[in-house]
Amino acid sequence: MCGIVGYVGSRDAVPVLLDALSGLEYRGYDSAGVAVLNGRGVETRKLAGRVAALRDLVRRAPLHGSCGIGHTRWATHGAPSERNAHPHADCTGALALVHNGIIENADLVRARLERAGHRFVTETDTETLAHLIEDAPGATLEARVIAALARVEGTYGLAVIAEADPGKIVAARRGSPLLIGVGQGEYLVASDANAVLPHTRSVVYLDDGDIAVVTQQGYRVFDSDARLQQRAVDDVAWDLETLALGHYPHFMLKEICEQPQSVQSTLRGRLLPAQGTARLDGLNLSPARCARVQRLVIVACGTSWHAGIVGRHVIEELAGIPVSVEYASEYRYRKPLRLPGTLTVAISQSGETADTLEALRAAKAAGSTVIGIVNVVGSTIAREADGGIYLHAGPEIGVASTKAFTSQLAALLLFALFLGRARGLPLREGRRLAEQLGELPDLVARTLELEPEVRVLAERYADAPNALYLGRGINFPVALEGALKLKEISYIHAEGYPAAEMKHGPIALIDENMPVVCVAPKDEVYPKVISNMQEVKARGGRIIAVTSEGNGDLRHVAEHQLRVPACLPLLSPILTVIPLQLLAYHIAVRRGCDVDRPRNLAKSVTVE
Ligand code: F6R
Repeated sequence: MCGIVGYVGSRDAVPVLLDALSGLEYRGYDSAGVAVLNGRGVETRKLAGRVAALRDLVRRAPLHGSCGIGHTRWATHGAPSERNAHPHADCTGALALVHNGIIENADLVRARLERAGHRFVTETDTETLAHLIEDAPGATLEARVIAALARVEGTYGLAVIAEADPGKIVAARRGSPLLIGVGQGEYLVASDANAVLPHTRSVVYLDDGDIAVVTQQGYRVFDSDARLQQRAVDDVAWDLETLALGHYPHFMLKEICEQPQSVQSTLRGRLLPAQGTARLDGLNLSPARCARVQRLVIVACGTSWHAGIVGRHVIEELAGIPVSVEYASEYRYRKPLRLPGTLTVAISQSGETADTLEALRAAKAAGSTVIGIVNVVGSTIAREADGGIYLHAGPEIGVASTKAFTSQLAALLLFALFLGRARGLPLREGRRLAEQLGELPDLVARTLELEPEVRVLAERYADAPNALYLGRGINFPVALEGALKLKEISYIHAEGYPAAEMKHGPIALIDENMPVVCVAPKDEVYPKVISNMQEVKARGGRIIAVTSEGNGDLRHVAEHQLRVPACLPLLSPILTVIPLQLLAYHIAVRRGCDVDRPRNLAKSVTVE
């Protein structure tokens, strides 16, 4: 949510900032802006719209400077407009800042500042920070920022420049991600490593409470009491090419098609087929410790929450541990019970989702060990968890999560196998699962061959006003995920439902205009799902069945059949979700939607 960037060095900051903003645009894309320090003071260009529009503006009204900041916004306080776009200034215009997060006491602070004579020009919470810094005591910009931040509640990733302190960016972090990119005689500040990767692989991840002072000569990190801190320099492993579209029209399609490789990367080096288990050193869990786990709580949001429900099935079946799956946003405000033997698992692609992070902290405070299943290396959840499994799926840029989901499922299967074998799962079963996990990348590649068939279906159903997705058991979260994909990128209302639950209400919706996608691979509930499909058919519903090769012909109930390769039922969600991703994608394209930047959404939800 909102991308921020800063640059200080010997080059013109503006092209660097604009390129970085393009890389951060998935975090928010309703407005954008840049500000630089130059001989004329602080110069700003901003507008409501995309980074491409900002580039045009800068072309028409150029600005230059070797120290600057930029922002791409996902509106929280105040509509997307030029006025509300960042950077924001103080009363004098001699200071500019960009912010990601929410200042929770903004109304109170603003009222006080207005009484003291400050003139506010925006509806944003962020502007209060600019005026607070304007008034704050201190000989340096960092001293004033530290003093101002002591008066705010809420979250921030912040970058500030000021005429009085030229050639300097002061950055601060609390609750919103921020890092420093360490280049050769130049430094960047950014919400995300993507933004600095074209310039450097060396990054310093800031901790909550850190204040950084960045100049062309170097950087220093302080805590909120202005005490100097040491922070390690990390290496970003991702390649620049992985951030490019290549020959694909959209990142979402690219990421769907990358799944044979991304699932392979999640599994790489972790399967031990002969021992029938997985090697997961990062978990920091000994087999003895696994044997003592009494319950598992999974916390996550959105697609990651759907992965959690699949995880519940596989962990309960393979490891015999009771699992509850919680919406992180709800869990964080409950009082977690202090139950010995609880292991909490936070699942997050970005590793920065505010609710998941707070749920992790609540679980820790209640005495639980916390495991992170995370894609982004060095992200806050990864760093705060006691151990974890990185997905290694590569950067996911499309706002709708696809390859991260299948990698989350692969990681959960590895985790369940590891726990299961430590708790008495027979070697034979462990081996069978490990062997089939090894075949997954090929099975995923074969599933992608369904794309031409799915495209034809998308043509047919692109104008549907509603859609229903049904599944039972482990296929129910796949139905939920299929419905979420469709609604978020095509704006068609879609619901996922447990197939048998449908007759307790939603069946009233079914008529000849209602496409019903039934997730029905070969498993023990298959005959039951066929009965549910009959119920839909009897009411005129149009069924698209996602089933397995080798399952009988479903022509008598389904209007369309999509067949994924046959596999062990516990693995099937990794395959059955793929036609659903493709269906959502092609329907959205057909409807002319902005697939990679769906309206109102942003990737990495760093506000609660
Ligand atoms: C949907 C989607 C979201 C995310 C959710 C959690 O396609 O991407 O529902 O899954 O915002 O994000 P992470 O996994 O980064 O915590």
